[in-house]
Order: sequence, then C-alpha cells, then structure tokens
Amino acid sequence: MAIDLTLRIGGEGGEGVISAGDFLMQAASLAGMEVVTFKSFPAEIKGGYALSQLRVSDQHILSQGDGFNILIAFNGEAYELNKSLLTPGTVMIYDTGSEADFEPEEIPGVIMYPVPMGEIAKRQLKAYITKNMVALGAAAELFNIPVDTLKESIRQKFTRKGDKVVQLNYQALEAGAEHVRNNLKKQESFEFPKPREKKDVLIIEGNQAIALGAAMAGCKYYGAYPITPATTVGNYLAELILGLGGFVYQAEDEISALGTCLGASFAGAKVLTATSGPGISLMTELIGLGIMAEIPLVIANIQRGGPSTGMPTKHDQGDLYQACFGTHGDAPKIVLAPANVEENLYLTIDAFNLAEKYQTPVFLLSDASLALRVEAIKRPDMSKVKHEHRMTRNGKADEKFLRYMSTESGISPTGIPGMPGHAYAATGLEHAENSGPRTNPDTRNLMTEKRWRKFDNIEDEWKPVEREGDEQAEVGVISWGLTQSIAKEAVQRLRAKGLKVAALYPKMLWPLPVKAIKAFVDSVNQVLIPEANFQGQFAEIIKAEVPIHDKLVKLNVYRGEPFIPREIEEKIEEIYPK
Ligand code: COA
Repeated sequence: MAIDLTLRIGGEGGEGVISAGDFLMQAASLAGMEVVTFKSFPAEIKGGYALSQLRVSDQHILSQGDGFNILIAFNGEAYELNKSLLTPGTVMIYDTGSEADFEPEEIPGVIMYPVPMGEIAKRQLKAYITKNMVALGAAAELFNIPVDTLKESIRQKFTRKGDKVVQLNYQALEAGAEHVRNNLKKQESFEFPKPREKKDVLIIEGNQAIALGAAMAGCKYYGAYPITPATTVGNYLAELILGLGGFVYQAEDEISALGTCLGASFAGAKVLTATSGPGISLMTELIGLGIMAEIPLVIANIQRGGPSTGMPTKHDQGDLYQACFGTHGDAPKIVLAPANVEENLYLTIDAFNLAEKYQTPVFLLSDASLALRVEAIKRPDMSKVKHEHRMTRNGKADEKFLRYMSTESGISPTGIPGMPGHAYAATGLEHAENSGPRTNPDTRNLMTEKRWRKFDNIEDEWKPVEREGDEQAEVGVISWGLTQSIAKEAVQRLRAKGLKVAALYPKMLWPLPVKAIKAFVDSVNQVLIPEANFQGQFAEIIKAEVPIHDKLVKLNVYRGEPFIPREIEEKIEEIYPK
C-alpha cells in the first residue's frame, strides 16, 4: 500500500523548528522519497509560533496535504494551536519534564509519546538548542526515519559551525532515540517509506528555483532591495552568477533597484529583480518606464499578506490586480504564476524569454509559502533550455534604424549601446518610431496600438494553459499560483471517485488567455475559482472578459495560509449536482 505520511513540527521561533523540518526533508529526499514541505513562521526573529511540515510518500505528491499524521510539539502553544487537528489515529510527540511548559490532556484515540526533549538537551547535553535534535532522534526511532541520511544533512548544515556542533547534534539524536528505546512502546504503525534507489534529483527551495531558472536563462544582473519573503532569491542568485561575470547589487530602496535594472537591461543584460508587494508599489513608476521604453525585465513578486507591511511571512495571492493594472496609463504587461517549485524554475526561464521577445517587463507571481517550499525535482537539463534574445537590427547599418518601428507584430528592432548605427533614446516620453519625443495624435495612436499589438497573439504563440479532466464536466476548476497544485490534488481525488470534474491551469494570467478560458467555461456546467485573496481577483478579471456570471462560484481564503486540498474537494462536492 502507498505510504503518505505528514509530520508537523511546531514550536517557538528560535527553537530550531525550521532546521528540524529541513533535516527531515533532506533525509527523506536523499533516501529517494517524494517530499513536499510547508513552513510558516512569525515576522519576529525570536518568539512566536513557527511551524515546519513535511509530507513524504513513495508516490508522487502535489501539495502539503490536508493536515498531519504526526505532530511534534515543542511547547504549549504548538499543542494549543494544533489540538483541534489531533483526531483519532494521529500521533503527538511532545515535550515533557522539567523544561516543558505544558501537559496535554488525554484525547481519545490520539497516541501520545512524551519525550523530555528540553530536559535531555539542557541537563544531559548541556545545550538547550539541541532540543530539536532530541525530538528528531525520538521520531527517527519511532517511525524508521533513516538516521544515516539524517546525520548527513546535519553534517552538511552544521559543518560551518564546527565539528563540535556536528558531534553534539549526533549525540542529541542518539539521546532522543535512546529515550524511546528505554521508555516508550510503539503503539501505531506509521513508518517512513523505505529508502529507495537515489534518483538524480535536485532538492530545491522555491526562491532558489527562481534563482536557478534566472541563471539558466542567462541572467547577468540582479538589482534589488531586501524584503521578506523575496530576499533569498538574490542570495541564491549571487552564489550562481557572481563567478560567471554577473552582478548583484543591493540598492538603497526598490525605486533605485529597479532603476539600475532598467539601466542594465538597456545596456543589453538579462535582468532580474525580486521583491514583494510593498516593493512593487515603490517600483511602479519605473515599471511604467520599462513598458514605455520597451525594456526587457523580469520582476519576481514573492507575494505576502498586505496591504502595507501586513503579514510579511505569510501566504497570500492578493497582488494580482497590482501586477496586471498597477501602472498608470495604458500599460500592457505579462504576468506569469508558477504552481510549484519546479515551475518556479521553468517559468522563470519562460519569463526571461518572453521579456526578451516582447521587449517588456514580465511579472512572476510567487508567494511566501512557495518561496519556502522544498521539493525534490528532476535535475534540469541545460542543453534543452531555449534562449530568446531581443531582436536587433543585425548589422544592416545602411538601413535607417527605427527603434520603435511600427511593425506588423508590434515588436521593433532594438540596439545595444555601442552598436554602430543603433543609437536611440530610451525615454519615458511618448515617442515617434525613431525614438524622438512626440505628442501629436497620430504618433500617440501609432505607438499605443503598437505596444498593445505585441500581445495580440501571445496566447497562440506561447500555450500558457494546461487542462485536465473530462471534456464535458459538471464542475470545472480554474486556479492559479500555488493554489493550482492544491486544486490539482483535489480534482484528482474527485476524479478517482468517479466525479465528472475538469481543471484549467493557466500559467499566464495576463494578458488573459481568453480563448482557452472561454472554451473551458463553455465545456463545464459550473466554474469554481479558488484563490488566496478576499476579492477573488482572478475570478473578477475573468468575469470582465469571459461570460461566466451564471456559472461562477468563488472560494476564497485570506488567513495567511494556503488552501488545503480537502477544502477545495469539499466545495466541489457541495456544488456538484446531487
Ligand atoms: N544546533 C545548533 N544550531 C541550531 C540547532 C542545533 N540543533 N537548531 C537550530 N540551530 C540554529 C540554526 O542554525 C539557526 O541559526 P543560523 O541562522 O545561524 O543558521 C538558528 O538556530 C534558528 O534556527 P532555525 O531552525 O533556522 O529557525 P527557527 O525554527 O528557530 O525559527 C525563524 C526562527 C526562522 C522564525 C526566525 O529566525 C526568522 O527568520 N523569522 C522571520 C524574520 C523575518 O523575515 N521577518 C520579516 C521582517 S519584515
């Protein structure tokens, strides 16, 4: 029988919850298992509730799952916050003894394993910080987690802290395991999947995948201002491109960051910036310059809960309107949204290619949960990556160079400073075909129409949607971003139960792939659009372009956490004809 096990660790920020989850994840991935993680922590550096969850299986998995089978509670808060999910059949390993701040009540059907993790760490090992490893040692003993791979990932992470720290953590692992052997009796049958032959996979985090995608696409310049949860994109990218002639620049704010990006792209480089909603707000004026001057640029928005400083470390899909419409004037853009870590990588490459081809800023909408999610993905094959380059005039120096020539496709030849005969003004002012500033009505019409014409056929040129399920279905689900991977699991569960359900997974949200969405809406009786925002922003955008009113059902969460598949599954069952 397939193994599908979810283990959640909860505790206080600063107690090593995140590290413990990362070690488990790496151990499972190194042992060839399928893994999806979910992490959530407070905006404070220390204190507050931190959660790290690992879903592990011997089958392919799509999302973080519905809840957990096993809870490791480091403190009373973790117990209180997860108590309602401790249903019969679940297991809790919890801190007890002199260092514990709580004593759980008995819950019928819930198996409890008390482990004095804090006490062992403090008194026996003289290092309270190793409490997380005592807990992992106990879990490893109980659930057959491969200790060798656990030790290997501990060694990899803590080597920089010195061999003493590595050895101390090994001792903590063993102390936790020993406590279980001497004091507890296994009362359930949860087991990690057996280690399998190692696959050639990359264990990679969401933001890391964006950085890798950018490097693979040929990104040579990154200009940004640090902001949670986007900062690590730049950290990872620096490791990849600094040694390859690339530049990474931390500017004094987001406005300046984007200014440097536009300059670098104008000079011919492939360019990335990463920020979050508040950073996009500051960049908005210069994004308009990028559109007007037709400068290729990729902007990764790692969305978080807004408005204002909002909930900096929490999941949200509330920046879609901002991405599509957040610039003054008639401002065409491209907005892409990846559904999982692997898509973070490949859609980033697509974003660079689209930016080059259409000479425009391209948004990549990720989010705080996807930023931290870890997946083991198939190792990418660099030789299969296509590189698009902006169209230049290619040498015919005797022809008149018109930077903003009104071509049939709307895409005009550009030049790189220093190319003979390619001088032009990259201006925020409206301009004529030769780039000189002009405001007469004919020029304004010609250039506005040219800028929009570029995207007339983008849906056919770049197939931006996937579809699954029955050709004619009772319920069709349209979703975007991380919600897509969760909706996919819900849809597949219901199809396995025999329900006529279909799903559309747009990867490009703007320009809206109207043809594909209209065809999908026509093929189903009701359309459910789940989104992690209050307004149902994508649903409203679709409503403006596709006749969907009498079929549309919205489902929205805005609590700072992603959907779980069961919520979408239950909503589909609720609206499904009885
Ligand atoms: N032995 C030695 N060191 C250990 C250890 C062990 N057994 N377990 C954990 N640690 C170290 C970790 O290595 C880490 O130190 P490092 O940063 O030098 O690597 C530290 O203890 C914290 O542990 P970690 O597991 O990474 O995190 P945590 O679960 O304790 O939670 C966070 C801390 C992540 C919540 C918090 O630090 C944080 O970053 N909050 C978000 C801040 C933010 O972005 N705010 C928004 C501003 S707008």
